[in-house]
Amino acid sequence: MNRNPQVAVVGATGAVGVEMVRTLERRNFPVGRLTLLASARSAGRKFKYRGEDVAVGELKRESFTGIDLALFSAGGSISREFAPIAAQAGCVVIDNSSAFRMDDAVPLVIPEINAADVKLHSGIIANPNCTTAVTLMALYPLHRAFSVKRIFASSYQAVSGTGARAIEELERQVAQIVSGKPVTKEVYPHQIAFNVLPQVDDFLPSGYTKEEMKMEQEGRKIMHHPAFRASVTCVRVPVYRAHSVAVSAEFEKPVTAEAARAVLSKAPGLDVVDDPEKREYPMPLFSAGKYNCQVGRIRKDCALDNGLGFWVSGDQLLKGAALNAVQIAEELLK
Ligand SMILES: NC(=O)c1ccc[n+]([C@@H]2O[C@H](COP(=O)([O-])OP(=O)(O)OC[C@H]3O[C@@H](n4cnc5c(N)ncnc54)[C@H](OP(=O)(O)O)[C@@H]3O)[C@@H](O)[C@H]2O)c1
Repeated sequence: MNRNPQVAVVGATGAVGVEMVRTLERRNFPVGRLTLLASARSAGRKFKYRGEDVAVGELKRESFTGIDLALFSAGGSISREFAPIAAQAGCVVIDNSSAFRMDDAVPLVIPEINAADVKLHSGIIANPNCTTAVTLMALYPLHRAFSVKRIFASSYQAVSGTGARAIEELERQVAQIVSGKPVTKEVYPHQIAFNVLPQVDDFLPSGYTKEEMKMEQEGRKIMHHPAFRASVTCVRVPVYRAHSVAVSAEFEKPVTAEAARAVLSKAPGLDVVDDPEKREYPMPLFSAGKYNCQVGRIRKDCALDNGLGFWVSGDQLLKGAALNAVQIAEELLK
């Protein structure tokens, strides 16, 4: 790839797209020229990049001429339609949607775990589901040391995981409630302010949601561990930013909290925040905006053989989306 690639961000006005542009700038990614794309609704809006105004263009079939790298975050249907067009035009696509993640011809990559898979691409590389990414940042180092068999997990997912309109919905509902006005709903089926919703994504015939099954399916592919099993309950919580996951993991090999802590303290992209005496543990309020995920509440699981309980929190707009995508782009330039 060109050492100073022409980069397009598709979905540049969205919750992830805005972070993509910021992350490219903050990590000093050697962008040759930046193109911002969204729907006709946003054409002409301007965003700052390296002190300059960049105007958003309307996404069209011919948008990818001369572009080397396209970071997509405009939803699955846009990816399904336009990512193959971009790849056909000679561009490498890093896609944030779920459209291609389980496609055998598309690498699904978390650079701290399976960076080498990037090289296997034929035009499209997928970014993992955000809850899966945050969880695997702590689970994979433990898997390397103790061989994970299965996990039971519950997620606590921020509204920004649903996109920009869901952030507005939480803000609006909080304002309505404190001023005694009726609550209006546009994004979620129920009030999210001062509530938790035990539904993220659509339900499957099994009773799990699609989001819940991503942990097992994507976890198997990223960790190269086809026997990995995950039973997950995904919950939306009235937090603006950063997902948290409570995990009980069962391993092949015996594990202690001390041995797990030693492994996790050396893991890339992860900080151990775990001092119960001082009431120190990861919280979304403090993991928001950080590149590293945080793990704590590390303890031997009392109900599983070779089991470990832990709590991981990470900024899903960064490690679950924009940061991971830019890290993949950095791998492409190596
Ligand atoms: N939010 C997260 O934490 C997260 C994490 C991982 C992956 N993802 C994935 O990333 C994608 C975007 O999520 P988001 O949270 O950023 O959503 P969002 O805030 O709703 O943003 C959606 C973006 O897509 C653009 N878009 C919508 N329809 C379009 C069209 N017809 N043509 C061109 N652009 C169009 C929007 O542009 P307009 O301004 O013109 O409408 C906007 O820029 C989704 O696939 C999501 O699953 C999100």
